[in-house]
Amino acid sequence: MKFYPAKISKYFSNPNNAGRAKFANAVGTNATFVCGCALRFTLRIENRKIVEAKFQTNGCGFMIAAAEILTEIITGKELGELHGLEDLETQITEKLEEFPESRRYCRTLAIETLHAAFNDFRSAQLEEWSGEKALICTCFGVSEETIEKVIAENHCETVEEVSQKCNAGNGCGSCQPLIQEIIDSNPNML
Ligand code: FES
Repeated sequence: MKFYPAKISKYFSNPNNAGRAKFANAVGTNATFVCGCALRFTLRIENRKIVEAKFQTNGCGFMIAAAEILTEIITGKELGELHGLEDLETQITEKLEEFPESRRYCRTLAIETLHAAFNDFRSAQLEEWSGEKALICTCFGVSEETIEKVIAENHCETVEEVSQKCNAGNGCGSCQPLIQEIIDSNPNML
């Protein structure tokens, strides 16, 4: 176990969230060619709250530690408390202290896979959506029409500015690329 720095060794040897979430309704799977490692997050989200988050991987201790930290960060949180899932790299590094640059891809893969799980959840929500207005942000129930209005009225140039005005993008962050597309396609911009 000496191969791993102390904090990473602690998370790696005793992960609380290894396994598969029961009745998961959000799944993200990813792999890296760097080492052939695969990772899957399964989440159960009920009433806009992440009640269970688990991971499965064939990866090394660095991957296990990064995945464990991410599940700890999101478990028990409301979607609206995720703040776009920003700064996850920093949060992982702060908790583990010594995350070697040579294993940076483990951290990146873990973060990308978590985003994939929330994308999966958003897609399922959209499939169930029966409202008349096109929905963009499922975390906060914000429609495309509202976002266009916010951009036009406030001359928003960034996703952050839109989020500040109507919360869209401020949850799991899955809708942020779409908000950016709406900004880019707004003829009144720039
Ligand atoms: S869909 Fe989650 S923040 Fe918009």
